[in-house]
Amino acid sequence: MTDAPDILSPDAMHSILEDIETNAFRRIGEAAGLAELEPLRIEYLGRKSRMSHLLRSLGGLAPEDRTRLGARANEVRKRLEESIREKEAALKKAPPKQALDFTLPGAPVPRGAEHPITRTIHEIVSVFERLNFEWVSGREIETEFYNFTALNIPLDHPSRDAFDTFFTRGGNLLRSQTSTVQIRVMEKRKPPLRVVAPGRVYRPDTVDASHSFMFHQIEGLMVDDRTTFADLKGVIHLFLRALFGETSRIRFRPHFFPFTEPSVEVDVSCFICRAEGCSVCGQKGWLEVMGAGSVDPAVFQAVGYDPRKVQGFAFGMGVERLAMLRHGINDIRLFYENDLRFLKQFA
Ligand code: DAH
Repeated sequence: MTDAPDILSPDAMHSILEDIETNAFRRIGEAAGLAELEPLRIEYLGRKSRMSHLLRSLGGLAPEDRTRLGARANEVRKRLEESIREKEAALKKAPPKQALDFTLPGAPVPRGAEHPITRTIHEIVSVFERLNFEWVSGREIETEFYNFTALNIPLDHPSRDAFDTFFTRGGNLLRSQTSTVQIRVMEKRKPPLRVVAPGRVYRPDTVDASHSFMFHQIEGLMVDDRTTFADLKGVIHLFLRALFGETSRIRFRPHFFPFTEPSVEVDVSCFICRAEGCSVCGQKGWLEVMGAGSVDPAVFQAVGYDPRKVQGFAFGMGVERLAMLRHGINDIRLFYENDLRFLKQFA
């Protein structure tokens, strides 16, 4: 058997031309780039295309069919060639369409991070939370009663100076210590109480490397019917060892605060030199980190508690100071300048 040349019938030629008319021109028009145009040219005009097949088959047709279909086929072929040429020219002129490259890295989204002060507050509070203390907050704008009088700092007492602050005309002031929150909490609740109160405080200090007119404190208060100074020592020990390391030693020095009696200042052995003496502790071997004491009966009286039935302890610490000690920061102003070179070190 020989391969008979596949001769197309006039009907078959007719439908090929129809198909080209309806599809080829549309597809050429839609080609989005030269790479899409070339396959179309091959499909419709190439040596193996149906058009070539058709032209080759014309010789086998009856003369009248040959003239009619030959003319039509040639006309369609010319138009196809023209259409491809025009499209090619247009694509070459048009700016190349930007192809999407999914392998390129995305635009970076900068990640935020906690400010070192916020982070220090969270670290400190989380230690107290493990001891069942609850995070509470007070107000930054206060009255004289909460910042002074209720905390056993009478108008004529010299200890007012230590807690001096900014006053407004309307009789309000910016709190100069978070001890105000002791009063706010005890006014509202009955013992037993275990709270810590982080927040901002304000003082009319001249700004320098270790002073700021605004800084942060964390206040602590525990009250029930038999909380003693021994409990204070236990809690402070646990807290400072969690913060400065389990081998830290802790020292209580007698001091005066109006709202506690007895009052102490608490030192932790220098975690840099292990109490040998270095520049961080000023050759002392010890770092002063907080004030504390047993709640003064006068404070209980101010909030309507019966001092014969309740007892408790309170403490207060400066957040900036603790953050500076732990991270070796030598200027308090760095916390407030929003300099990313500084802040990124804590991200
Ligand atoms: N309020 C004190 C200050 O600003 C810190 C303080 C000391 C708070 C002793 C206390 C405390 O609760 O018992 O310097």
